[in-house]
Amino acid sequence: MEITAEQQQELIRQAKDAYIKAYAPYSHYPVGAATLWSSGKIFAGCNVENASYGLTVCAERNSIFQAVSQGERRLKAVAIAVPAEHFPSPCGACRQVLREFAEDCLVILVNGQGKTRLTRLKTLLPDSFGPEFL
Ligand code: THU
Repeated sequence: MEITAEQQQELIRQAKDAYIKAYAPYSHYPVGAATLWSSGKIFAGCNVENASYGLTVCAERNSIFQAVSQGERRLKAVAIAVPAEHFPSPCGACRQVLREFAEDCLVILVNGQGKTRLTRLKTLLPDSFGPEFL
């Protein structure tokens, strides 16, 4: 396994914790994300919406940008949690931003019942474009 069971549990815990702080007064769809990096550190983020709707930042990108701002570059795994019944699914923009820092990685999806579904970035974004092309 590329990450430990403990790391997986901690990612899930932090992603669930993060959606509590989501600022989502327009969509009423809170999302939390937690990313694990090669340093072993985890960074959490929530979605932050704006009255000018297009300025909204997703939970995944919020978490990634915080990590990169602290010097992280190699992403190992991400957990995304919502209180809603349906499993979350990262938007296309966030898939591409995840891809910037990992050719492939574990993606853990968590719904409001606490059920988890495991997938991979390569599955969500096949034949992807990345920094090594440039
Ligand atoms: N959102 C996320 O934060 N992550 C996702 O994976 C899907 C969408 C946010 C953006 C917006 O604040 C709300 O969910 C509804 O689109």
